Amino acid sequence: MVLEKIMTPIALFDSGIGGLSVLHQAQKILPHESFVYFADTACVPYGTKSKETVSLCVEKAVEQLATLPIKALVVACNTATSITIKPLRLKYDFPIIGMEPAVKPAIERNRLLNKRVLVLATPLTLQQDKYNSLVTELDREDVVDAFPLPELVQYCEQLTFDEDKISTYLREKLQNLDLSTYSTVVLGCTHYPYYKKIFKALMGSSVEIIDGNIGTVKHLKSILASAQLLATSKPSTTSEVTFLSSYDKVETARRCRKALHYLSAQQI
Ligand code: DGL
Repeated sequence: MVLEKIMTPIALFDSGIGGLSVLHQAQKILPHESFVYFADTACVPYGTKSKETVSLCVEKAVEQLATLPIKALVVACNTATSITIKPLRLKYDFPIIGMEPAVKPAIERNRLLNKRVLVLATPLTLQQDKYNSLVTELDREDVVDAFPLPELVQYCEQLTFDEDKISTYLREKLQNLDLSTYSTVVLGCTHYPYYKKIFKALMGSSVEIIDGNIGTVKHLKSILASAQLLATSKPSTTSEVTFLSSYDKVETARRCRKALHYLSAQQI
């Protein structure tokens, strides 16, 4: 019975293909696990919708995932976490790991450099109490700026990774910010790490581009380890990742495979 539980997959969930940037790290850090990845393609994007709509979408998606044998759920989406993490944890008894913009390590790094921190996330994440209380608590010296990039989620969902196109978009969007004032950029949306190299080129080599993906997977690993649920050998009958979605299942699975392949090729 316990062995059976150890062999059950970990579920990861996002509005679309953004959470694959977390799955990509999970496959590296937890090579013996199998995964179920759910893309809520009927509702994507979350970041420009109302809080109420996103709550309903997440509720429906997780209800579907909870019918499967899963040993933990990673809400691989900052927007969904900021709105639904509390009710989800009250409703389900499997471990639920959420995500939030990595403001803390960014402020710590910036302290040594005496510049500023730029947090990029969806409009909805930046409007939520969860994000605003995090910044109020940590940003004692008032060094954090935030900027929403909703169109980047759309580009990502279309698998648009063209460097010229994305650089032009980013330059235009961020034109009113003095980019030379930042030491650190926080990618507070799981869709944005696909563009990490483009951000790096735009900001300059001394600017650190931080996301919460590796931290989230390490947290997941420690939770599984303390519950004695960490797999130590790969199950031979289970495929590594099962892709599920709320709309256009075959096409979504194809896009997910392509996106994961892109992330591996990027070596991020
Ligand atoms: N990837 C998500 C996040 O981390 C949501 C993006 C969206 O659907 O707008 O916030």
